[in-house]
Amino acid sequence: MTKDVFQLTGPDGTTSELPVRKGTIGPDVVEISKLYREQGVFTYDPGYGATGSCESDITYIDGEKGILMYRGYPVEQLAAKSSFIEVSYLLLNGELPTASELEEFDSTIRRHTMLNEGMLNFFKGFRYDAHPMAMLSAVVGSMSAYYHNAMDASNPEHRSIFSHRILAKLPTIAAAAYKLNIGQPFMYPRNDLNYSENLLQMLFSVPAEPYEIDPVAAEALDLLFILHADHEQNCSTSTVRMAGSSGANPYSAIAAGISALWGPAHGGANEAVLNMLTEIGDAKNISKYVDKAKDKNDPFRLMGFGHRVYKNFDPRATIIREMCHKVLAQLGRQDTPMFDLALQLEEVALKDEYFVEKNLYPNVDFYSGIIYRALGIPTSMFTVMFAIGRCVGWTAHWREMITDPNGRISRPRQLYTGPAARDYVAIDKR
Ligand code: ACO
Repeated sequence: MTKDVFQLTGPDGTTSELPVRKGTIGPDVVEISKLYREQGVFTYDPGYGATGSCESDITYIDGEKGILMYRGYPVEQLAAKSSFIEVSYLLLNGELPTASELEEFDSTIRRHTMLNEGMLNFFKGFRYDAHPMAMLSAVVGSMSAYYHNAMDASNPEHRSIFSHRILAKLPTIAAAAYKLNIGQPFMYPRNDLNYSENLLQMLFSVPAEPYEIDPVAAEALDLLFILHADHEQNCSTSTVRMAGSSGANPYSAIAAGISALWGPAHGGANEAVLNMLTEIGDAKNISKYVDKAKDKNDPFRLMGFGHRVYKNFDPRATIIREMCHKVLAQLGRQDTPMFDLALQLEEVALKDEYFVEKNLYPNVDFYSGIIYRALGIPTSMFTVMFAIGRCVGWTAHWREMITDPNGRISRPRQLYTGPAARDYVAIDKR
């Protein structure tokens, strides 16, 4: 291999010179688009662990060093100094806003928070006990039926209106799903409140009495949204890009992302962590569950442990663990035993040879559920909260994908292992 070319020699001795592309930081990538033409082979990488699917200038992760940066800014600095709305502006526009840009963006988002009144009828059609993620993806998909006046992907103004609408309305939809579950009236958004305060208000207030927003709860929520805002080409983001690459409207693409996020190997893990901690119940059972997680014949895994990219530590988990202490001290004494159990489980697993050898560390979801629970958010809403935070990342990636001059419909190939060609057999001869 020379500096900028990767040489690959096939079984028949034909050599292909594959261009090597360099990013700002991180590993180079070998461009293999002409490999099939020259060598007659596809590449095979199930799960895409070694495949770059696109060029992106939004988020950078170094899984070995535990680095996560949005547009070049370390997530630790954004978590300590920024707000979710400012981070959203950064992700969507590439730069931190000036004071007036931030004010304008913030007020635009606040003015888009209400849903078309007709959309509330959708909720009446769901069973009262429908999972909120099911309602979220369905209602977001249906936004294309209400906001079709501005969803032309080729129109920059439409892209901008879509971005504001989805970011502003997702908390309203999420809160309505929760209210349906508990049989309370939907609460309208209040535009005098910031993003996280407004969500708390829509979730927990009722028309019958005043509701006081706890500043620590709002701060914790804002932090969790910052930490979940983007994570480069993860499963749900890649799903949004793939669905959007066909030219499908952006609401459908986001609805596809929400569905992908729901799985327990992805955003559904925060719900699974709490279920797991409840099942473990007591510190005396930890070793039994750690043994189950190590047993190859047992499907049980320690939820909230392990990550496709982070093989050292997940920087988000470190920040969330600190916030857990603050939130529990302020709000959730009754949840302290669960937090203690989580800390003890982490300690045992991090000393265990199996977890050390496989580089399995707590990920972002290990502690986020404990905070949500202390805020009074039910387990079934955990992945919904993740979706609210991640929505801006999905939107930024959709915009990047749709404006990429080299963009093509995503259409992978395969290794076919089915029957070779055979003749149709008449039904009476089978
Ligand atoms: N508990 C026990 N063993 C585990 C765990 C775990 N949580 N995670 C991985 N392993 C083991 C696997 O059994 C495998 O062992 P093997 O090499 O002997 O077969 C090895 O570690 C590698 O695991 P893979 O599943 O191949 O790793 P992959 O990168 O495909 O999966 C994933 C990553 C899905 C996150 C996985 O670690 C997992 O299932 N974790 C639990 C679910 C979870 O917390 N998901 C949230 C991820 S973060 C997010 O989406 C926000």
